[in-house]
Amino acid sequence: MYDYDLLVVGSANADLVIGVERRPAVGETVLGSDLTVHPGGKGANQAVAAARLGARTALLARVGDDAYGRLLLDSQRAAGVDTVGVLVGGAPTGVALITVDPSGDNSIVVSPGANGRLTPGDVRAAGSLFQASRVVSAQLEIPLETVVEVVRNLADAGRFVLNPSPPRPLPREVLSACDPLIVNEHEARVLIGPGAGPEPEDWARDLLALGPSSVVITLGGQGALVAVRAGARVRVPSVPVEAVDTTGAGDSFTAALAWRLGRGESLADAAAYAALVGAAAVTRAGAQESFPTAGEVAALAAAFPSPDDDSRPSRGGSR
Ligand code: RIB
Repeated sequence: MYDYDLLVVGSANADLVIGVERRPAVGETVLGSDLTVHPGGKGANQAVAAARLGARTALLARVGDDAYGRLLLDSQRAAGVDTVGVLVGGAPTGVALITVDPSGDNSIVVSPGANGRLTPGDVRAAGSLFQASRVVSAQLEIPLETVVEVVRNLADAGRFVLNPSPPRPLPREVLSACDPLIVNEHEARVLIGPGAGPEPEDWARDLLALGPSSVVITLGGQGALVAVRAGARVRVPSVPVEAVDTTGAGDSFTAALAWRLGRGESLADAAAYAALVGAAAVTRAGAQESFPTAGEVAALAAAFPSPDDDSRPSRGGSR
């Protein structure tokens, strides 16, 4: 029996957000909206997203001993995340400078701050959290050696889910532990390298050859492609909503998928549920504030039933 459905190991940032009509070119200055400050960071976002859906969730992260750190801790606790693993001090809280354009797309620069001080020793010291967690998820806004230590500390039957964002080449030890590796097109191309083929099916084949047991490739309006080693490729349809702000939507997708896998769902069904969660998240501003409850996801599912009636995943070509 596990105490946690999901342990998230990763970053926590204060998101400093400005709305812009368009992003500045090199050397250019543009005027934007008033500044807003939101709790964010890919790890903290995943933890809040899972907890809001009803998952018993813990976060292993590091924040600074400052106002942004307190903002982040408050947001975690309000969502019901167990913050026993959130370490405080060592550097200022991580900050993300974010611009959001009228289409809801964003550009992000992250100053890791305390995230960069989350060490392999911190992971080893949190061994009891790993043993108590059915699924562990991570991203790459913390040091790579810390992510390596995460996969070395998984519980015997624990499952590991990685969203390699921001992307970088990864050691085989990390890639082999992923079940699944969750990437968008940009992340897929970085991991595969210059030989990446033209189609998502090509990327899935090449990514699986790097070691993961399974791969999920998110494709925006084209939904997602789910691929299991020696198994079928399954297309999961997207959910057509009006995007206000895409910040954190990928994090909510990963968290929802990880949680549903831990409940025993197939990868395709978990990805279909995660697509609903990500779609709900883009309809509201901010990252953590935008994440839906399970009830809101159910309402969205009812509003957009799958074209394949009961089962949202569809086999075959893209939509
Ligand atoms: O994925 C969105 C997140 O990326 C933002 O919340 C920001 O903090 C950056 O980490």
